[in-house]
Amino acid sequence: MRIDIVSCQPGLVEGFLSQSIVKNAMEAGKVTIEMHDIRTYGIGNYRQIDDYQYGGGAGMVLMAEPLAKLIRDLQARHSYDEIIYMTPDGETFQQKIANRLSLKNGIMIICGHYKGIDQRIRDMFVTMEISIGDYVLSGGEIAAAVVTDAIVRLIPGVINDETSALTDSFQDNLLAPPVYTRPADFEGHKVPEILLSGNDKLIQEWRLEKSIERTQERRPDLLDK
Ligand code: ADE
Repeated sequence: MRIDIVSCQPGLVEGFLSQSIVKNAMEAGKVTIEMHDIRTYGIGNYRQIDDYQYGGGAGMVLMAEPLAKLIRDLQARHSYDEIIYMTPDGETFQQKIANRLSLKNGIMIICGHYKGIDQRIRDMFVTMEISIGDYVLSGGEIAAAVVTDAIVRLIPGVINDETSALTDSFQDNLLAPPVYTRPADFEGHKVPEILLSGNDKLIQEWRLEKSIERTQERRPDLLDK
């Protein structure tokens, strides 16, 4: 799998890529992730990439020309199943979107800044628009890192325990059950007896029951999905 991230502040994502599970996945050859700086395609001596918006109003807009050049250069070298634009007015990111994207071969993620990108780039190139929640970030980079992390950890072999990603919260519209590790008694707070029983069937039943309880309490909306 290949993920190309287009940004005018690549440094914001590079730190994230050089750490974490994502770094391990890259080193293991499971995924190739490259950052591409829009500024490299800027116009003129000042490498201009943004301009005032037509019709007036505060805030700069990332210009169509540098972005189109960069996108076309990437398209000439690789093929993309999705070209994603990170934006607060996109579809809200969910586990099922991460699942779907983790099966793709090539993804391009475009990060906006300031007031966003020229609408024509969205019309001409973008196939999917994703928001990571109902709040406005100062750029799409952190959102792109969120989406990248959620996708990469689902690629088979990236997480050591093969089944681990499948038992995450949201995978079956249920929140994950509580987990415990040693010691069995921490300052008088004991691990539920059943987890020490060695009876796998009872343990699985207990976990499902706790998952349902937790979902009912915290996210009853998930149970109607
Ligand atoms: N860019 C700015 N805010 C964002 C958000 N909430 N989700 C995705 N991209 C964004």
